Amino acid sequence: MFKQLIPDSGLPQPRRQYRPKISLSITLIILLVLGLQFLVLPRYVYKISPSQQSLNSFHLVKLDARLEQCREILTPPIKYGVTSAGSRTNPRWNPSTGQKETTVLQNATLFDGEQILTGKFDITFKKGLIESVVTAGSASIASDAKVMDLEGGFVTPGLVDMHSHHLAFAWPLLSSTDDTNEVHDRTEPITSQVRIIDSLKAYDPGTAIIASGGVTTSLILPGSANIMGGEAVLVKNMLNSGEDSEIVVEDLLLEHGIPKSERRRYMKMACGENPRRVYHHTRMGNAWWFRKHMERAKELKERQDAFCLEAAAVRNNGDTAAMSEFMHRLSQEESATEMLEYDSTIAMLRGKMGINVHCYEPEDFEDMLMHSKEFGFRIQAFHHALEAWQVPEMIKASGENITIATFASFALYKQEAYNANLYAGKILADHGVPVAYKSDHVETETNAKFLLFQAATAHSFGLAQDLALQSVTSVPAGSMEIDHRVGYVKPGYDADIVLWDSHPLSVGATPLQVFIDGRATLDPEIVESSRTAVQSSNTRKTATPSIRANPSDQNKDSLCTEIGKSAAKITIQGITKSYLDIPSIEANGDKGLTMVIEGGRISCFDTEDQCLSVSANSTVIRLRDAHVLPGLTAVSVSLGLGEIATDDSTGDGAASSGGLDLESTIYAKYGVHLDGKSFARARIGGVTRAITAPKSRGFQGGVSVAIKTSGKKNTLNGGLVKDEVALHFKVGSASKSDKLPTISSAVAKLRQFLAESKAKDDIFGRAANGSIPLVVHVENEYDIMSLIKIKQERPALDLVIMGGGGAHLVADEIASANISVILTENRGAPDTFEKINTLPGPPLSKMAAEVLANAGVKFGLAIEGESDSHIHNLPLEAAWAAKYAGLSSNDAINLVSRNIEQILSLDVKEDSRDFVIYEGNPLEFGASVVLSIDGDDGMVATCWPEAT
Ligand SMILES: *[C@@H]1O[C@H](CO)[C@@H](O)[C@H](O)[C@H]1NC(C)=O
Ligand SMILES: *[C@@H]1O[C@H](CO)[C@@H](O)[C@H](O)[C@H]1NC(C)=O
Ligand SMILES: *[C@@H]1O[C@H](CO)[C@@H](O)[C@H](O)[C@H]1NC(C)=O
Ligand SMILES: *[C@@H]1O[C@H](CO)[C@@H](O)[C@H](O)[C@H]1NC(C)=O
Ligand SMILES: *[C@@H]1O[C@H](CO)[C@@H](O)[C@H](O)[C@H]1NC(C)=O
Repeated sequence: MFKQLIPDSGLPQPRRQYRPKISLSITLIILLVLGLQFLVLPRYVYKISPSQQSLNSFHLVKLDARLEQCREILTPPIKYGVTSAGSRTNPRWNPSTGQKETTVLQNATLFDGEQILTGKFDITFKKGLIESVVTAGSASIASDAKVMDLEGGFVTPGLVDMHSHHLAFAWPLLSSTDDTNEVHDRTEPITSQVRIIDSLKAYDPGTAIIASGGVTTSLILPGSANIMGGEAVLVKNMLNSGEDSEIVVEDLLLEHGIPKSERRRYMKMACGENPRRVYHHTRMGNAWWFRKHMERAKELKERQDAFCLEAAAVRNNGDTAAMSEFMHRLSQEESATEMLEYDSTIAMLRGKMGINVHCYEPEDFEDMLMHSKEFGFRIQAFHHALEAWQVPEMIKASGENITIATFASFALYKQEAYNANLYAGKILADHGVPVAYKSDHVETETNAKFLLFQAATAHSFGLAQDLALQSVTSVPAGSMEIDHRVGYVKPGYDADIVLWDSHPLSVGATPLQVFIDGRATLDPEIVESSRTAVQSSNTRKTATPSIRANPSDQNKDSLCTEIGKSAAKITIQGITKSYLDIPSIEANGDKGLTMVIEGGRISCFDTEDQCLSVSANSTVIRLRDAHVLPGLTAVSVSLGLGEIATDDSTGDGAASSGGLDLESTIYAKYGVHLDGKSFARARIGGVTRAITAPKSRGFQGGVSVAIKTSGKKNTLNGGLVKDEVALHFKVGSASKSDKLPTISSAVAKLRQFLAESKAKDDIFGRAANGSIPLVVHVENEYDIMSLIKIKQERPALDLVIMGGGGAHLVADEIASANISVILTENRGAPDTFEKINTLPGPPLSKMAAEVLANAGVKFGLAIEGESDSHIHNLPLEAAWAAKYAGLSSNDAINLVSRNIEQILSLDVKEDSRDFVIYEGNPLEFGASVVLSIDGDDGMVATCWPEAT
């Protein structure tokens, strides 16, 4: 078999020109013995060696070493049995820094990895392992055990994130530490041979922030530039967790303590746009590169098999001459370097590699599945996979039980992320496809700390409660085949346990403690001080958050037609809360209040009886828990200016920095289109208006416009609420460009512009004299101080800071300078150097909103990111801030409505403002917009809006 396979294998032949040069010296022989066994040497070297005897024993040692390798290579992947009490120990535990005292958590409300169990439970863990989970009160408690009474508080397994890049790319992100994509000269789209473990920095401060969100296990993957990006590795998110408490990569590994040869291996692959863009190939080119690589790996695998068979036979036979001859033939014919290069791919073909493929679109899944059949490998998960909801049956038909590891709402940032669906989790689950949510952690927008928020979002869009919780615990653990250790709170599992302050699927749910391998990772005093403003009404919320209600299509169509008429008269029953500035009586018990809307004006807001006189002949909408809010105002990323965020052809484009010529400033009002997918998301969030500044790179931001999001108005008939809202600039790393390479030059330019424009009769003059707001996008506290100085010198200036990562450090100064803030760092992170002092938020620090509110800063909230795909979360973002800032629900709503209007001088009158009626409380998950009224014309602007 061996003989037959080798001749046609097309291996490079020994290079002839080397032959005469090889010295037959003893040194060379010693080198050989020392293990340079891979040098390709011509046959005669051996024939005239000084001692045939020593060569024989050398060959024997080598042969045995190779047979040992064969044993490793050919051992099937380890399948772990069912985990139960006493079935295992935690290999990461060590006696010096490992969990010392047995801990008992009493009276926990428990999600055990499968379901939320009925009743309360006591959980005992010891030496990093869960020992027992029993009905509350029935645990036998050792006298030296540490006991915590959770009083019904929620407990879940430590969350498992199957897609992260922290440690490989540490915070603050610097180009010198970006070790995620092996892209060298853009010539090698396949780098299966590299390993992310070689890139890890065991000091990444992002790790503790991630853990503070309850994420205890992460799969660290190479980036997605390459078709095969390299091997991934599992970590637990606890720095300094080894015996010596030093920053050692090995100590971070989930499989620390397990022999290297027995550790799980994972391969990162990518389809679609990324490798296509980086290497300038087409999809067909990508496929060919991949197939060519796999074909070669298959050949090498077959050679390995043949070699191992023959080696075993020769060894068993015991004939030393035959062994010598065999090894000698091997040294001549095999290129071991190539074997090392293909080692990961061959392991993949042997089923010893969990294959995780970054892949978004149906055609790319289909193609990759075809390759998996062609070469015989199983795909563990498709990652991102935002369009998988369109083809669940195709994915299932592979028979491979592929997990979809996806985002809940992050989407629309590129073409392959454009056909995303907020209901994808539910749709996939309904088809029996396992769904996991993952972070893709690298910057604020993908901060793994907020992994659970994605599960909660998916739940609000229909994914059942237990499945939602499984999607960040047992499903990713199962997918990666580590569900014998993590993903569950059951006896025999690693003691990775999170205590939550409220139902884990509720807004603002935050850990009170996170145990990793039984060790508490949060300092209770810091946790306490991060939440001093939290009011008791906001703690221990244990009710299951709602799923968004949707009317049946039939009801919806007739209802919406009826109330869409111009003189429509609408009666809403069941209103439990109103945030409009109109007098109303207190809520009316279970029945709620009734509101009658005629021609867009509220003609009655009282009990049903009191409104009877005006409600006759109206269309009645009966709701259970209706909330009436002012229409929310988003300060958007680029709503209306770019449909697919990264593709300029889908919108206005992005002005490049230069733009120092102030005369050529750009106006969003000239480029805006008033419909698209993000508009639909805005509508389901109750966002009726948005402020959009031009997309630009560099210092100049142009002039923003205020638009309506109803999709019913265009730029000629009232869709532009205000043509010119504010003049925008950037100061900080975003302002750097060839023309203004430094931050100091941007500040100087701003000063120069203010000095020169003051008397001008144009937009600049208006911004310079304070008649329109001057919005400066800025993060760092020192850059903010430079702006405070400008404002101190020019008090008339209506200066607004947008961003504000460092604003909490100068909150008093901002307040006394009368500068307002549009905070985009509500759930911020110190991801970049200029944001290094940005608060990570509870449980590690106070939330920025609390500090700003306490200092009396006028502020509102906006959501930043690659796209406006999170725009519907605006009320939830406000609720999150309000919880930790101790704000009332009214103040919460103002953060995303009245405050923004005031900060940007939108001049909205209370009696003619947009308003929105929700079923449910929009400050919690699961509320849906029933209708909204356009304050300008009194028409119904949206009726049961939907979005994908
Ligand atoms: C918690 O459990 C302990 C022991 O079972 C019991 O004495 C205590 O009353 C419980 N506390 C609550 C709040 O249920
Ligand atoms: C499919 O994968 C999921 C997620 O890992 C796992 O929970 C489930 O048990 C698997 N199903 C089968 C039939 O293997
Ligand atoms: C209601 O409609 C009926 C029949 O169309 C009409 O007779 C009646 O006057 C209306 N009542 C009110 C209060 O508009
Ligand atoms: C500001 O400048 C604009 C444009 O020159 C002018 O119309 C306006 O009256 C000025 N406002 C103030 C407050 O000076
Ligand atoms: C603060 O600024 C706002 C908007 O520019 C202005 O209306 C208000 O009068 C200022 N307040 C003080 C105390 O200067």
